[in-house]
Amino acid sequence: MHGFVVVANRVPVDATPGGLVSALEPIARRAGGAWVGWIGSPDERVEPFEHNGVYIRPVALSDEDVDRYYEGQSNSTLWPLFHDGVEPATHRRAWRVAYEAVNRRFAEAAAEVAAEGATVWVHDYQLLLVPGMLRAARPDLRIGFFLHIPFPPVELFMQLPRRADFVRGLLGADLVGFQHPLAAQNFLRLTAQLLGLRPDGDRVEYDGRTVTARAFPISIDVDEIDRLAADPKVQAESRRLREELGGDRRALLLGVDRLDYTKGIEQRIEAYGELLAAGTIGNEEAVLVQVATPSRERVVQYQQLRERVEREVGRINGEFGDVGRAPVHYLFQSRSRAELVALYLAADVMLVTPLRDGMNLVAKEYVAARRDELGALVLSEFTGAAAELDGAFPVNPYDVDDLERAITSAMRAEPVELSRRMRRMREYVRTHDVGRWAADFLKTLSG
Ligand code: ADP
Ligand code: F6P
Repeated sequence: MHGFVVVANRVPVDATPGGLVSALEPIARRAGGAWVGWIGSPDERVEPFEHNGVYIRPVALSDEDVDRYYEGQSNSTLWPLFHDGVEPATHRRAWRVAYEAVNRRFAEAAAEVAAEGATVWVHDYQLLLVPGMLRAARPDLRIGFFLHIPFPPVELFMQLPRRADFVRGLLGADLVGFQHPLAAQNFLRLTAQLLGLRPDGDRVEYDGRTVTARAFPISIDVDEIDRLAADPKVQAESRRLREELGGDRRALLLGVDRLDYTKGIEQRIEAYGELLAAGTIGNEEAVLVQVATPSRERVVQYQQLRERVEREVGRINGEFGDVGRAPVHYLFQSRSRAELVALYLAADVMLVTPLRDGMNLVAKEYVAARRDELGALVLSEFTGAAAELDGAFPVNPYDVDDLERAITSAMRAEPVELSRRMRRMREYVRTHDVGRWAADFLKTLSG
């Protein structure tokens, strides 16, 4: 039995953990905590085990569960709907039923490992029903929920079949955390519209309890990025990359994302192609590197996106390239943290242009890596990060002219201006790291 339990779709055993794992694993370890999650491959039954001092309680998913709960309801219904419907959401009864069944399995596993009065922290859109299920089984628990992605405007959320069930599910928590204050507001408005509740400020009474809904913008492990950026091997790799790509004569523009249609990768590449076509940027003057991590590859929208991106990269390289000098270097690969930091250090302009993103940690990683206080960040207005990083070059990624303007302004800004902007952002990121995020959330949850 454990006094602190994390419940998330995936367990923290990946070789390259993201921000969530690096934030929560030390806390879980210090608390002698448990972590409930899916091991990541279908039909794999694994007994509970210890990993880095954390008790891992795997939840098995069959191939059909992966198809319906993960690829279906989570990533073809909720993901697109919660990201402004940038791709149309698909609604299937069988997916919803599987989602409910899998959420119940996660809730049961959490109830099984949580000690009397324990704190349980549930994460993300794959598990919206878990807080309510857990509350019903274990009223003694202190339950927190954090949504890592955006929470949609009321009008969009209303399209969701059985929408009230999801709101009731979240209301099972004592504290519901979001990336942005507007997301918390959207949620509170829905409690009034769908359930007739009366939110007051950031609180709402439900079922004889007070539920708080508030923004807790997530961040990164700044020290980890800083350590990598200071590593002579990483710096040497960064210099090698720059040399390979044309040295200081050629500005290096960089994109690093999961290959996801919310990230605006297509729009970014299209804008770069137009700048080359118009002669605003010459191939000898700049190069674009796009690292795209394979993601959700069995979902059709992701397969179609991959085809579109690869076709466009091929077209641009064919039309504007020279022998030994391609305008766009596209890597459909995952890279180690050290390699990513070497790329961040090498990049003159970091392009973070999602159509919608709950936060975007890549933007914060770029800032944390730039110990030299140089480099420009082009940042979509539709990311959570834009509310925090006011030294970025803001952009509307739906507007190709605006993308082109932002790219060229960032490329041509004076070093003194870049330093001024970067210093401001670094100061903010340094004082708002992921440790502070987790501590703020847990302090509020404990009352
Ligand atoms: P999301 O959670 O939607 O994937 P974020 O930008 O918030 O987007 O977080 C992505 C995380 O994954 C970051 O920590 C980033 O460093 C990492 N990442 C993104 N692309 C790659 C890649 N090609 N290789 C390795 N890690 C990556
Ligand atoms: O918050 C975004 C998110 O969906 C996380 O829940 C998840 O860990 C990450 O992106 C990667 O997605 P996936 O787990 O589907 O590979």
